[in-house]
Amino acid sequence: MRSYRKLLTRTTAVGAVALAAFSLQPGTATAAPAPDPSGSVHTKVVGGTKAGQGEFPFMVRLSMGCGGALYAKDIVLTAAHCVDGSGDNTSITATGGVVDLQDSAAVKVNSTKVLQAPGYNGKGKDWALIKLAKPIDQPTLKIAEDTKLNNGDFTIAGWGADKEGGEQQRYLLKATVPFVDDATCQKAYGDQLTPGDEICAGKLDTGGVDTCQGDSGGPMFRKDDAGKWLQVGIVSWGEGCARPGKPGVYSEVSTFAADIKKAAGQLGG
Ligand code: ARG
Repeated sequence: MRSYRKLLTRTTAVGAVALAAFSLQPGTATAAPAPDPSGSVHTKVVGGTKAGQGEFPFMVRLSMGCGGALYAKDIVLTAAHCVDGSGDNTSITATGGVVDLQDSAAVKVNSTKVLQAPGYNGKGKDWALIKLAKPIDQPTLKIAEDTKLNNGDFTIAGWGADKEGGEQQRYLLKATVPFVDDATCQKAYGDQLTPGDEICAGKLDTGGVDTCQGDSGGPMFRKDDAGKWLQVGIVSWGEGCARPGKPGVYSEVSTFAADIKKAAGQLGG
């Protein structure tokens, strides 16, 4: 949930042209639907496909319309723009353990506390932790602690829109997007990008594959050298979804790894 003030902070620097297309708001598309660049009926989620049950067991859906990943069994790592602030908060429900949100096996747990990135003001620092009332008994997702693997091909997953202006999804969708370096991403977004805080990914030439509204807070990840999933990003923002020349922008997890660890300690994790 974003306040109007925060949205303004984000959009003032963007300029009038992009105003309608930029959104950090979870689950809400503000732009008019663009032609579907994937052009295929069986291609889902802006170029994705259905994830298998248990394929990404750390994935969590949050009730405000965001994604997240289990940092600990009782702590979800998500985006700062998905939450209202820090403090006691029992209003969020996390759903885990399923790809189908309507599966009767879904594990639903309420939040007890939220910790939004200290100093978050709508530009960069887009991370937050949610403490759960009880653990979700699924494998957690390790976070990148250095920049070594902030490159290559990344996996993205979420229940967000399958196209710009599209609907939230019942089934978890996944896709693969290539890393886009800061200099190239800055050409697309100028001052909007906070290069130290953000890492970009997407198919620059063709577009067609991306996260989208409602995927926010979810992880972007890849295999580490031992073949284990490693979180390198958090879905944050982009201009529209899957547009050529407009990569997805993700919080750069390695930048915040120490802060996240400290914050998790404060939440008792
Ligand atoms: N801010 C959006 C949300 O709340 C995520 C947008 C991601 N956009 C993109 N083009 N990758 O869900």
